Amino acid sequence: MSEERFLVTGSMGCIGAWVLRNLVRDGIEVLATDLSTDPTRPSQVMTPAELRSIRFEQLDVTDPDTVRSAVVENGITHVVHLAGLQVPFCKANPTLGAQVNVVGTVNIFEAVRAAPEQVRGMSYASSLAVLGPGEMYADLPIRDDVRLAPTTLYGAYKQANERTAKVFWEDWGVGSIGLRPYVVYGVGRDQGMTADTAKAILAAAAERTYEIRFGGEVTLQYADDVAKMFIESARAEHEGAAVCNLRNTVIAVNDFVSKLAQHVPHHQVTYDSESSLAWPADIDDSGLRSILGTLPHTSLDDAMVEALAMYRDLLRTGNIDLAQLET
Ligand SMILES: NC(=O)c1ccc[n+]([C@@H]2O[C@H](COP(=O)([O-])OP(=O)(O)OC[C@H]3O[C@@H](n4cnc5c(N)ncnc54)[C@H](O)[C@@H]3O)[C@@H](O)[C@H]2O)c1
Repeated sequence: MSEERFLVTGSMGCIGAWVLRNLVRDGIEVLATDLSTDPTRPSQVMTPAELRSIRFEQLDVTDPDTVRSAVVENGITHVVHLAGLQVPFCKANPTLGAQVNVVGTVNIFEAVRAAPEQVRGMSYASSLAVLGPGEMYADLPIRDDVRLAPTTLYGAYKQANERTAKVFWEDWGVGSIGLRPYVVYGVGRDQGMTADTAKAILAAAAERTYEIRFGGEVTLQYADDVAKMFIESARAEHEGAAVCNLRNTVIAVNDFVSKLAQHVPHHQVTYDSESSLAWPADIDDSGLRSILGTLPHTSLDDAMVEALAMYRDLLRTGNIDLAQLET
């Protein structure tokens, strides 16, 4: 078996940064790409030496020719496709949202199709936002194959990605695994409503007040675990077009806040008990389990300990912007 060479898109994002960290620490060659050249998030989760060891190229996934040459000319064996615009950005600019999230993903599949002897596996980011309104899902836990009815453009674009993957498998044998994260937390998670649990840990480390904008039960996925799931999904070299939910920690926000107090006794984090997230927290991840076997799952306690230590270090060295607590 030849050596692995990963291409990561969206590598300046939160999950991308953790994917780079895992690959570098495992000694795997990686081509890190993003439209953005701002290394803030990768630099928050890696040492300067680790960061310097990574080859970075600016890549716009909406450009089919450069995506194709990035894959074909660099001998890429595995692709982790994370580039995308989040819910508010798709809403603010639907055309750009579709170009990045829909066309960009088609471009990745096309590039992989162009190199069948070379690319052995790929994973890409879908989202739980492909689901319809929470009331549609009385039958719990929510399985991978439930009816989809996204209520946002972002969700509609992710659903298009999932169907695209199925047709690329059926028509051209391009295998893939799409993952549907829900609430990802950890250093680097700094924007969007579901970033609030990560920001709560940062606020506790910084001794600041912070209100999590929702209560009720949530499904939490530590960024390091999510990164490992994307890497292992690409490595699975899956024959088919699987789309898999993620689960990991299910907890009431009330209990999350209490648990934080075990690590930071006088923290000033509260939550809005009147609001809750769109979907039930009871998610079935047996689909991914059946492909990968045991899934990485850092306990909430261990993740809090690691995140608090990382945030305190970043605060001490002035490498994190607390303005994120205001949004
Ligand atoms: N974080 C979550 O909780 C969550 C939940 C569900 C799904 N997802 C999906 O997982 C993926 C990664 O999430 P994240 O939290 O790391 O997101 P993120 O917003 O932190 O990172 C996305 C990255 O994509 C890059 N990008 C945007 N347009 C691009 C373009 N035209 N070409 C190349 N790169 C471009 C951005 O610069 C950014 O660095 C995304 O596709 C996201 O939709 C994330």
